[in-house]
Amino acid sequence: MRMLILFLTAVVALSGCVKGRRPEIIAHRGASAVAPENTIAAYRLAWEMGADGAETDVHLTKDGKVVALHDKTTKRTAGLDRAIKDLTWDEVRALDAGSWKSPKYAGEKIPSLAEVLETLPPGKKLYLEIKSTKEIVPFLKTIVEESGKRKQVVLIAFDKKTLLAAKAALPGVHTKWLIDSPRDAKGKRGLAIDPAFAAQAKAAGFDGLNVSHLGVTPELVKAANDAGQELHVWTVDNPQRARLLVEMGVVGITTNAPDVMLKEFGR
Ligand code: G3P
Ligand code: CA
Repeated sequence: MRMLILFLTAVVALSGCVKGRRPEIIAHRGASAVAPENTIAAYRLAWEMGADGAETDVHLTKDGKVVALHDKTTKRTAGLDRAIKDLTWDEVRALDAGSWKSPKYAGEKIPSLAEVLETLPPGKKLYLEIKSTKEIVPFLKTIVEESGKRKQVVLIAFDKKTLLAAKAALPGVHTKWLIDSPRDAKGKRGLAIDPAFAAQAKAAGFDGLNVSHLGVTPELVKAANDAGQELHVWTVDNPQRARLLVEMGVVGITTNAPDVMLKEFGR
């Protein structure tokens, strides 16, 4: 009986340790559940909430400005159905990227990457997702180096060649490879991610994997650990789901709602 009590005490203590593990909390496109994604308002709010980092998507304009925008066009978030690569910075700057979210944010602009970096407080990180092809890399390099915040930047991209090019241009800057979960026969996402990506990331010299949470399995977690690759996930807004992923071994949660995650895991 005494042994049983000791065993149960140990199990409870251990589960408390696991539950107490605090993941890195990254605000997806800023605090985008509340403020318009990829705007300065969304980044300021993320820092106010206490996020450990924020994620931003970057594209290149026609005249070589690196801007924070998720889609290839400005239609969804700024009402103009034009490709960002065909617009000049002046044209982009004239757009309203806040009203679609709420009248409260009317007049919010699509920011340049340099402006997003200016909001980045000491000790926090900016996860910089390269959405364009690799011609953006020399521009990125200049902006990141001129910001003086090189050590706070993490480069992420789905395209391996683009991520390798960015890594070569900015040696020593952390890199995490983005992997989506495969789709089922009906095209619905959510199948398991191949654990072999972990060894491939290691061989490429990356620092981690940043994957769709839908594709995480114990096998992927083990492979990432074996390969010395940090495992981050996107995009999780449900605290119970986040808790489960952290208990599996995920160390970073990208979320639209950093306030919700910080309430769950503590600041
Ligand atoms: O942080 C990675 C995640 O943002 C990738 O998906 O479509 O939101 O850019 P997406
Ligand atoms: Ca993104």
